Amino acid sequence: MTAPIRVSVTGAAGNIGYALLFRLASGDCYGKNQPIILQLLEIAPGMKALEGVVMELLDSAFPLLHGVEISDDANKAFAGVNQAFLVGSRPRTKDMNRADLISANGPIFTGQGKALNDNAASDVRALVVGNPCNTNALIAAHSAPDIPKDRFHAMTRLDENRAKAQLAKKLGALPGEVARVGIWGNHSDTMFPDYANATVRGKAVTEQVGEEWLQGEFLKTVATRGKAIIEARGASSAASAASAAIDHMATLWHGNAPGDFTSMGVWSNGEYGVPKGLIFSYPVTSGGGNFNIVPGLEHGEFAKARIAATTAELLSERETVKDLLK
Ligand code: NAD
Ligand code: LMR
Repeated sequence: MTAPIRVSVTGAAGNIGYALLFRLASGDCYGKNQPIILQLLEIAPGMKALEGVVMELLDSAFPLLHGVEISDDANKAFAGVNQAFLVGSRPRTKDMNRADLISANGPIFTGQGKALNDNAASDVRALVVGNPCNTNALIAAHSAPDIPKDRFHAMTRLDENRAKAQLAKKLGALPGEVARVGIWGNHSDTMFPDYANATVRGKAVTEQVGEEWLQGEFLKTVATRGKAIIEARGASSAASAASAAIDHMATLWHGNAPGDFTSMGVWSNGEYGVPKGLIFSYPVTSGGGNFNIVPGLEHGEFAKARIAATTAELLSERETVKDLLK
C-alpha cells in the first residue's frame, strides 16, 4: 500500500471545507490508490462545528482516509504536510469586491505562510483559495522564505471551468469537449479569459462564434460569475470552488491532458512582460507537482489591454499589502 500523504485544509468547518473534505477523502484528487491523512485548521469559534464534520468524515468509512487531526494552531495543522489548501478566510458579501477583503484576510496569510515555512514537508505545495487569492498567495509566499516561491498558487481554475462551461453551452458541446482556455491575471473582474487558443471539439472557438460575443457577454459572464452566485444564493460559491480546488491540485499531481493546458495563479518571473513577483494566472502545463508556463502564446490588441488592466490591479493590491511582504 502506498504511504499516506498529509493534506491540510484551513477553514475546514466552512462552506468550501464541507464540500472539499469528502471529495479529498474519497480519492477524487490524488487517486483511488493514494491514502491521505487530513490535518484540519479552524479558528477557535469554528472548532465545535469542525468536530461535527470529523464525525461525518469518520462515519463515511472512507478506505483511503488514514487519519484526521484537527487544531486551531497552524503550526500543528501544517506539521509535515505535503499538500495545503488555504481556504480559511472571510468571504465577501454582495456589496463588496474581492479586493475589499484584503485588510481582513491578508494578515491570515502571514501567519500561515510562516507556519508552513516552519512545519511543512520539504515537498509542500500550497493552493490559496481565500480571497483575494492572488494577493493572499503572494503574502504567504513572502512569509515562507525557505519554501520556493513557485510552490504557492492562487486558484483561478474556477474561472477556467466557468469559461469552459459558457463555451460548451454556447456551442451545444460538453465541457469536456472544450480545451486550451487560459485565464490571465487576477481572480477578479479584471481577469482575462483568453479564448484565442480555445477549441471546442478540436476546432478553434474563434471559427465557431464571433468575437463580439467572446469579448462581450462571454467575458462579462465569466468575470462576474462569483457576484452573480452571491446574489442568487446569498452566499459565495462553495461546491464549485471546492471542485475547482480538487481540479487544480489533481492536475498539479497527475498532469493535464496531452495538448491541453490549464490555468494557475503562480509567481511571475517576468513571463509575458508581467512584472516579477506577482502571483499571476497563466496558462500552464503541469504534473508531478511542477508546472511550466505555456510559452509563445500570441495576444491581439484586446487581449493586451485586458492583461495590462489586470496586471495594474495586481500591482495596486501588492502596494496595498506592502507592509505584509517581508
Ligand atoms: P466560510 O465563511 O463558509 O468559511 C470560512 C471558514 O474559515 C470559517 O469556518 C472560518 O471560521 C474559517 N477561518 C476564518 N479565519 C481563519 C483562519 N485564520 N484560519 C483558519 N480558518 C479560518 O467561507 P467559504 O465560503 O468557505 O469561503 C472561504 C474563502 O474562499 C473566502 O475568502 C471566499 O471568498 C473564497 N473563495 C475563493 C474562490 C476562488 O475561486 N478563489 C471561490 C470561492 C470562494
Ligand atoms: C467566486 O469566484 O465565486 C469566489 O471568488 C467568491 C466571490 O467572492 O466571488
